[in-house]
Amino acid sequence: MPETWTILGVLSWTTQYFGEKKIASPRLDAEVLLSHVLHCDRVGLYVRFEQPLERGELDAFRELVRRRAAGEPVAYLTGTREFWSLPLRVDPRVLIPRLETELVVDVILEVTRDTPAGLACDVGTGSGAIALALKRERPAWTVVATDVSAAALEVARENAARLAIDVEFLEGDMLRPLAGRGPFDVIASNPPYVAEAEVATLMREVAEHEPRVALTPGGDGLAAIRQLVGGAPALLGPAGALVLEIGYQQGPAVRSLVAATGAFGPPTVRRDHAGLDRVLCARRLG
Ligand SMILES: C[S@@+](CC[C@H](N)C(=O)[O-])C[C@H]1O[C@@H](n2cnc3c(N)ncnc32)[C@H](O)[C@@H]1O
Repeated sequence: MPETWTILGVLSWTTQYFGEKKIASPRLDAEVLLSHVLHCDRVGLYVRFEQPLERGELDAFRELVRRRAAGEPVAYLTGTREFWSLPLRVDPRVLIPRLETELVVDVILEVTRDTPAGLACDVGTGSGAIALALKRERPAWTVVATDVSAAALEVARENAARLAIDVEFLEGDMLRPLAGRGPFDVIASNPPYVAEAEVATLMREVAEHEPRVALTPGGDGLAAIRQLVGGAPALLGPAGALVLEIGYQQGPAVRSLVAATGAFGPPTVRRDHAGLDRVLCARRLG
């Protein structure tokens, strides 16, 4: 980059550079990173296109451009990702919450519409995304969230404290931290569900930067889901809901797992905006 640059000049240059580096959304990424450096929103860039960047701003932006071009996700560079309109802090200790996962919240809100207060758990909470969104929407509910990763729970606790949302966080493997609690009205999870062999086929910025424990449980990718489906009936009350995000090809396998327990009614599977199976909901028989 030359020494003197306007906002417009920097955006144009970076968009072309990111394009050459095969980044999927070059203009958007350039705008998000520049607005982060300039502490403004993206519209703020458009209203001062001709403004030159100061030396320190340019240096800070150059460093982010270098890291983005090397594959680091934008959300880790800015340290934030919006989920359910909540500005969550994220860093490499946690998975970056995905838009599809808002469907998990949608389904929970549907099944709890007529239940003014209850007990819910988010297993594998990561940044706290599902648990915090649910508690924000259902303040009278008690919401518990677990994760096997102590590092992820630090991030989730920070998010809860900063947003002043009251969720209880427990560390441990799958449903184990919930022993002795319940009955739950909802057990929700976006568990790791990518098959081990498929991790290498994910986008580089996912495979190389997001926590492996958040992506895959190993093997065929179903181990965490098997544990949740197998263990949930003992923790759910009558008509309690198990709400799981699943891989887009896992619908038939997870339906079979649910049926094999004999503990649930027929599950429903919600599709995401791409028309792919994404969220399974099964109600415990009374
Ligand atoms: C796909 S991420 C989902 C994170 C968050 N719920 C979200 O939707 O953005 C899966 C999460 O499960 C956690 N996890 C992985 N294995 C686990 C286990 N055996 N017990 C509990 N949590 C686990 C990971 O640390 C990670 O935070």
